[in-house]
Formats: sequence, C-alpha cells, structure tokens
Amino acid sequence: MADRLRAEYAAAFPADGPITAAHHANLPYATTVWHETLRKYPPAPITAQRVLAEDLTLPSDGSVLPAGTAISIPVYLVHHNPTVYPAPDTFDPARWLAAPGAPRRGEGRGADPAALLPFTMGPHTCPGQRASGVEWTVVLGALLLRYDLQAVGGDVELEARTTLRPAGLRVRLRCRGP
Ligand code: HEM
Repeated sequence: MADRLRAEYAAAFPADGPITAAHHANLPYATTVWHETLRKYPPAPITAQRVLAEDLTLPSDGSVLPAGTAISIPVYLVHHNPTVYPAPDTFDPARWLAAPGAPRRGEGRGADPAALLPFTMGPHTCPGQRASGVEWTVVLGALLLRYDLQAVGGDVELEARTTLRPAGLRVRLRCRGP
C-alpha cells in the first residue's frame, strides 16, 4: 500500500517547491485510503443526540419514532455492518474503487451516501470535510515521500471518548534520503 501511495504522490507532487492543495486533485488511490480510514476508524463514532421535531417513519420496516424521541446515529456500527461492508474489520481501500479512479461508497449498498458517515449528513454536516480531506492526503504524501514508516508494537487499541483515537500509537520514521 505504501509503495502504491508513494508512486501516486511522486507523480502528483512537484519534484521541488511547495506542495499545495492544488496538488491534491489527482490522487485517486490516496482518496480510497482516506475513505477507508474514515470508514474503519471514524473520528466521531456516534453522533450527538438530536430530538425529533416530528414523527419519523423508518423506511426499513415502517416503524414510527414519535416526535420528541432523542436519537443518535451509531456511525461506527454503520461502518462495520457486514451487509454494507463485507469483511468490515479488514482495511481494504479497494472497496472504494468501482473502476480505476472512481471511488464509491460501500460495496453492499452500491453508491448509498449514507453508508459512509464520518461527517454525518444533512444541514449540519461538517463544513470542514473537504479541508480535512485535502490536509490529510497532502500531509500523508509529504510524510511518505520523505520517510519510511514502521509501526512499533502489536495491534493498536482504540479508545472511544468524544472522539475515537488510538490508545497510544508508536511509529518509527526512517529518512528516505537527503
Ligand atoms: C477528519 C476531520 C473531521 C471530522 C471526522 C469531522 C466530523 C464532524 C462531525 C461528525 C460533525 C457533526 C455533524 C452533525 O452534527 O451532524 C462536525 C461538525 C462540524 N465540524 Fe467537523 N470534522 C472534521 C474536521 C473539521 C474541520 C477541519 C473543521 C473546520 C475547519 C470542522 C468544522 C466543523 C463545524 C463548524 C461543525 C458544526 C457544523 C454545524 O453544527 O452546523 N470540522 N464535524
């Protein structure tokens, strides 16, 4: 995965001079890794509570949630639902490639936008999602082109507080050249 990412970044980033958000445009594989990272490790694993202003009929089975009900969306569970994402515990960026260069949302549900909810949806969806995607992919590229990264220790434990985060993460960086 790291070598494929490096090849894509080396082609997209300038040999010298600053890397800018404009260099983010042609990174289809890095985009699949970004989607898969957000799917497997959603920083907001459950949404804040909302109170229904009116009755809500669930399209799945017709049950009605009455107005006044407090609800929150279990984003982590949606992202690990095996009917939506086969082998949900496997980190597999390829699930976002319907065809080369064409990321899509979820295998089992085709192009259902509700299958990937790291930023939620609707009027209060996160306004920083585009900015965070650009920042993440550009920083990852800058790191990979300069360093070899190696995880130290075994599996990383996750800790869910307000956000989902690693309970300690150790990485060894080795400089790749001058
Ligand atoms: C990976 C990075 C990020 C994640 C996963 C994330 C996720 C979220 C989530 C789940 C919400 C709640 C949406 C809702 O209530 O339905 C939210 C709201 C918000 N986010 Fe982000 N966010 C990220 C980065 C950012 C950045 C970089 C900014 C600003 C530059 C930002 C600004 C906001 C603001 C202002 C809201 C409140 C929106 C509202 O209530 O109308 N976020 N974000």
